[in-house]
Amino acid sequence: MTSYDRAYGEWQADPQGWWAKAAEGIDWIRPWDSVFDPSLGAYGQWFAGGMLNTCYNCVDRHVAAGRGEQAALIWDSPMTGEVVTYTYSALLGRIEKVAGALASRGVVKGDRVILYMPMVPEAAIAMLACARLGAVHSVVFGGFAAAELATRIADAKPRAIVSASCGLEPGRVVAYKPLLDAAIDLSPHKPEACLILQRPQSPCTMTAGRDHDFLAAEAAAEPHACVPVAATDPLYVLYTSGTTGRPKGVVRDNGGHAVALWQSMKMLYGLDAGDVYWAASDVGWVVGHSYIVYAPLLRGCTSIMYEGKPVGTPDAGAFWRVIAQHKVKVLFTAPTAMRAIKQQDPEGKLLAQYDLSGLEALFLAGERCDPPTAVWAQAILQKPVVDHWWQTETGWAITSGFREYGLFPFLPGSGGRPCPGYDLHALDDDGHVLPPGSSGNLSVRLPLPPGCGPTLWENTEGYRSSYLADFPGWYRTGDAGVVDENGDVWVMGRTDDIINVAGHRLSTGSMEEVLASHRDVAECAVIGAKDALKGQTPLGLVVLKSGVNRPEAEIAAELVALIRERIGPVAAFRDARVVPRLPKTRSGKILRATIRRIADGETVATPPTIEDPAALDEVGLVLRR
Ligand code: COA
Ligand code: AMP
Repeated sequence: MTSYDRAYGEWQADPQGWWAKAAEGIDWIRPWDSVFDPSLGAYGQWFAGGMLNTCYNCVDRHVAAGRGEQAALIWDSPMTGEVVTYTYSALLGRIEKVAGALASRGVVKGDRVILYMPMVPEAAIAMLACARLGAVHSVVFGGFAAAELATRIADAKPRAIVSASCGLEPGRVVAYKPLLDAAIDLSPHKPEACLILQRPQSPCTMTAGRDHDFLAAEAAAEPHACVPVAATDPLYVLYTSGTTGRPKGVVRDNGGHAVALWQSMKMLYGLDAGDVYWAASDVGWVVGHSYIVYAPLLRGCTSIMYEGKPVGTPDAGAFWRVIAQHKVKVLFTAPTAMRAIKQQDPEGKLLAQYDLSGLEALFLAGERCDPPTAVWAQAILQKPVVDHWWQTETGWAITSGFREYGLFPFLPGSGGRPCPGYDLHALDDDGHVLPPGSSGNLSVRLPLPPGCGPTLWENTEGYRSSYLADFPGWYRTGDAGVVDENGDVWVMGRTDDIINVAGHRLSTGSMEEVLASHRDVAECAVIGAKDALKGQTPLGLVVLKSGVNRPEAEIAAELVALIRERIGPVAAFRDARVVPRLPKTRSGKILRATIRRIADGETVATPPTIEDPAALDEVGLVLRR
């Protein structure tokens, strides 16, 4: 029996006892009444009755325990040429004051605060300041356009918004403030106050009465103490793509989240207090929430926050430079970042310039890691490479390799084995557990472990219908895959319209809504086509209204601009093509999966349900153009 089998078996034998033990890693103000209460929420809640403060657990307690002079956060920005280290004491000093600045603008426990921020330390500081107050933060990724931000402002109804004058992308400064102003105009809900970080690269004008200078407000504020919250109170809401244009507000609680993330740092990544960890992601994504901010700080590690790209800032050695300079032990990034490096430095020559002896492992997630990239990364780094599978909803890995239990043999393409806490199976479409080796709907038997989103923001019914209704007693992940005879899990792809573009989760349904709103478009379909760098990129097919005879290239350019304007540059939508009609089944469903396979260059048999086979041939001709 391996030590993984032993650990997983211990969890299976006594799930509540196992999590109660993990919860000893957290400082509680009041202990819980029940480890898991099945009567609460959509499927039950963890640590009901317990009281704590997540910010206290991330920062204050490490200072109190004498780790105040240890680095907590290192901000490394090749975009500005700066590296700034915050010790736990220094970080605490800033968080206390930013919490005070928010409180003096009326933010209290339970209020929402939206953060629309680039990768600057103030983003993490503002998140932790909200946690300190018991306010619920909702971070919106900077690559989203004003309309997407407006949807989130309307849904979360924040009392305050924290933003910055600009973000820095290679070759361009992204002015955030005009996007924020436009979003507030579009939203029926208006915040009472905005704290704006003025960056020297592009300062912005302030709206009198509403906007306040972040640093001046911080300097003028009184430090604020931690506010006790219930374990079941929300810590944050993170919007993610759903199957419709309306994003889903995944709620994260305080207690289960703190316990699961604290536990995961050692169990998965093999790190403990004092170790340096780097999640090369963005605070706008769940990976940034969990592994740039909360998990490393809960454990007392040093976390790296990187404002830059894997390539071009300045070259494909950027990641190796950061690892060597800051003595990173574990790097967590998306496979697309490795593919970007591999494209520019296929032999890993730039590695030779840096001392990577301190690096112990590379973890990948965000999309399935294609085996050639995993093999390449392991060959050049000569370190274990671990692909682990998770989602915004779960907040931490569903399957992984486990440094605490000894890593599994390297099987490129596999997402590892279920983490203790997840009873994972592939189900057939009727909800029956499939035998090992069969492909099906990857689903987790309820309850989900601590840390997983217990509900959607003000939409528990939506949570039930999205995730729990199809297979009663199970959480449907939305991913298809196989659990094989050895227990290894192979994630094959989504069963819905979600695609992964450079590790960014996007809904093709929401892109279709935008294309359909164009005056010349009668019908459309968006699919995720294979892309050598980004994994997938969206491809739009449109049927024009009869009588439209403007040049196709002109319409295509308008469609590309429309998606950029409504969803944002992150959609990476660059390819729209006009087709005479869309292939459909006899019941009128567009054959998106078949179109995708043709776009990927596969030979496809004509589906028996197709209404008019000629439509497929026509699309094939356009796609091969
Ligand atoms: N604010 C504003 N714009 C942003 C942005 C942000 N925070 N992040 C990305 N964008 C813009 C980019 O500038 C780009 O704009 P462009 O169309 O004008 O060039 C567009 O959104 C697409 O960005 P991206 O998908 O990141 O592509 P890229 O070509 O700039 O870079 C990679 C490609 C692979 C280097 C990059 O995607 C990457 O580093 N990926 C890692 C993925 C990751 O961290 N995922 C998180 C989940 S773990
Ligand atoms: P997000 O919510 O943005 O983290 O995206 C979650 C989705 O990304 C999952 O449902 C999967 O489809 C995909 N995904 C994330 N990590 C992996 C992985 N390691 N292997 C396969 N798919 C992954």
